[in-house]
Amino acid sequence: MTPNVLIASSTQAWIDESIQSILQASSQAIFRRGRFSLVLSGGSTPRSIYQELAEPKNASQIDWPTTYILWGDERSVPPDHPDSNYLMAKQALLDHVPVPPENVFRIRGELSPQNAAEEYEEQIKTFFQNQEKYFDLVLLGLGGDGHTASLFPESEALSENQGWVAPTYAPSQQAWRITLTYPALLSSRQAIFLVSGAGKAKVVKQLIQDPQNSNQYPAAKIAANHENLTWVLDQEAAYLLSA
Ligand code: 6PG
Repeated sequence: MTPNVLIASSTQAWIDESIQSILQASSQAIFRRGRFSLVLSGGSTPRSIYQELAEPKNASQIDWPTTYILWGDERSVPPDHPDSNYLMAKQALLDHVPVPPENVFRIRGELSPQNAAEEYEEQIKTFFQNQEKYFDLVLLGLGGDGHTASLFPESEALSENQGWVAPTYAPSQQAWRITLTYPALLSSRQAIFLVSGAGKAKVVKQLIQDPQNSNQYPAAKIAANHENLTWVLDQEAAYLLSA
C-alpha cells in the first residue's frame, strides 16, 4: 500500500494540513453515509490540532450532531487525571464544539483495564453493528519506539487478532492501557499518522520506506497494510526521508 505523505513547511502548515485532512474526511463521510465517526489519538502531539479544529472557522465546517467521537486508546486512569486522553481532547476540543454528549464514546479508564475494554468494545459493536467498515477516520500518533495507539512493543495487544479492543500492559510505560487492536484500526476507512519532531524521524523513515521489514515497530502493521493511509509530517519528523 502506498501511503499519501504530506510534509508541512512549518508548524502552522502542519496543523493546517492535519485539519484539512480531518475536514475532508468529515464532509465525505457525511455526504456518503450521513454521519462521521472520528477516532482521536492521544498523547501530546494532536493537542494543537484539536485546539485549532475547535476554532469557529474550522468547527463550523463539521456537522457535530452527526459526528461521533471515539479514541484509539486510553490510559488506565480516571477522566479527570492529567494523563487522560479523554481529558486532553475535552479541554482542547469537546468543550468548545456542539457535539452531543451521547455521541462521545469515552473509554472508561477508571474501570479495570479488562472491564473498560469489554465495555468499549460492546459500545463500538453496537454502534457499528453489521457494518463492514467501522470508523471513517482514525487519527494515530507515533512513539519513538514505533508504537501507535497503545500497541507497544512486547505488549499482549499485538497478538489480538479477533477482538476490537484490548487491555494491555505497556512495559515501557509501566502502566496499563486500553487500546484498539489491529483488526479495529485496519478496518477504518482512512487512517492518518500525525507526527511531529525529530525524535520520530528514524521510525517515520523506516515505516514509510520499508514498512514490510519493520516488524520491531508495532505501527508497521498499519503502515504496511492500511489501504487508505496518510502521513502528515512536520519538517523535523520528515528530515530523514530520501527525496
Ligand atoms: C497515547 C497515544 C500514543 C501517542 C504516542 C505519541 O495514549 O499516548 O495514543 O500512541 O500517540 O505515544 O505521543 P506524543 O504525541 O505525546 O509524542
